[in-house]
Amino acid sequence: MNNFTFYSPTEFVFGKDVESKTGELCLKYGAKRVMIVYGGGSAERSGLLGRIRASLAGSGIEYCELGGVHPNPLDTKVREGITLAKEYNPDMILPVGGGSTIDTAKAIAVGYHYEGDFWDFYIGKAKPVKALPVGVVLTIPAAGSEGSGNTVITNVETKVKAGLRQPMILRPKFAVMNPELTLTLPEWQTASGISDMMAHILERYLSNTPGVQIGDRLAEGMLLAIMETAETLMANPDDYDARANIMWCGTIAHNDTCSLGRQEDWNSHAMEHEISAMYDVTHGAGLAVIFPAFLKYASSKNPGKVAQLAHRVLGIADSGDASADAYAGAEALKKWFHDVLHMPVTFAQLGIPNPNLDEMNMRLHRLKGEVLGGYMQLDAAATMEIYKLAM
Ligand code: NZQ
Ligand code: ZN
Repeated sequence: MNNFTFYSPTEFVFGKDVESKTGELCLKYGAKRVMIVYGGGSAERSGLLGRIRASLAGSGIEYCELGGVHPNPLDTKVREGITLAKEYNPDMILPVGGGSTIDTAKAIAVGYHYEGDFWDFYIGKAKPVKALPVGVVLTIPAAGSEGSGNTVITNVETKVKAGLRQPMILRPKFAVMNPELTLTLPEWQTASGISDMMAHILERYLSNTPGVQIGDRLAEGMLLAIMETAETLMANPDDYDARANIMWCGTIAHNDTCSLGRQEDWNSHAMEHEISAMYDVTHGAGLAVIFPAFLKYASSKNPGKVAQLAHRVLGIADSGDASADAYAGAEALKKWFHDVLHMPVTFAQLGIPNPNLDEMNMRLHRLKGEVLGGYMQLDAAATMEIYKLAM
């Protein structure tokens, strides 16, 4: 196991009606003037925003609002938010929504303190040293941004979707998580969220670091729990306990609990980000297309961890041939995404029958370098082979 530092200061407040504590929590973390950020209207329609405004007002907290965050959030909305924040001078940003809203809030939080263009942070031109505090009201279990130190934004002009990882300043101060808020999710979003959280675990599981049994077993346990619970939830979307388990899994899948002390991969995410940057698809659905293809490729190049996954999680008996078992595991995962989550598992099913793979692959390597490192070394020919396996 490698050395690590784990800083996870987020207070998670979980369960029914907990959104009524939002005002109290803002005060606890020193906020008296808050900027609410939300998406395309689901939080307004469900009445949640009304309850959040009432909770803030009840605690004597002033607020301004920025709505209209787009899924696969855009730099243009971040810029609008930074301008508003510089006028209003909030002492906390409060996203009410999912990963897109939270990531926009985090981008505003770092951009507020910076004289230059916030995008510099996302392309490695500058490193943020401080951020406004962020408190979260989560409405969809998926991206895990409520517990992560990450934010992912798409630049409209360059069509680059890029991430910033700064756990020391970007992990939220608190996250309000009421599973009942997820009852209004369309099946597509519930399922895409489940696919995304599974991918977050798998990106960490695919590691060459030896001696990391705790991370492996946590990851396997979480994957098994997610798969079991997802089967219940897809059959009965109103099951509170299933909603609750999935919501908490989404957080621990991505707050680094199962990746401490080990090399991580993240190349499936990098490959998917190019798909959503070019075709604006739902992130979790893009991952359901890419991940099985990635595992298939790995089955011939570095099958060890994939075979272990196949044996311990995906119900494949140990045949003594790691490569064959890894391939069978990749097929089993693809079938599960398709049969249980009703996710697309090919580009065509994702609504892109003729993807421009050359452009996608060129953009991937322009952003990430000639060779993507991690579980495998992937040059342009390798990533193209993976994209083709997803056709
Ligand atoms: O915008 P509104 O109207 O709120 O509707 C949203 C949106 O259309 C809807 N929704 C959310 N909660 C709802 C609801 N509809 C009904 N009832 C509710 N309770 O769901 C749609 C998707 O929302 P979004 O915030 O985009 O979902 P998600 O949490 O999946 O976030 C995806 C984004 O997060 C990034 C992805 O790349 C993508 O841009 N990621 C962020 C990460 C991070 N910061 O750590 C890690 C992830 O790997 C991921 O890359
Ligand atoms: Zn993800």
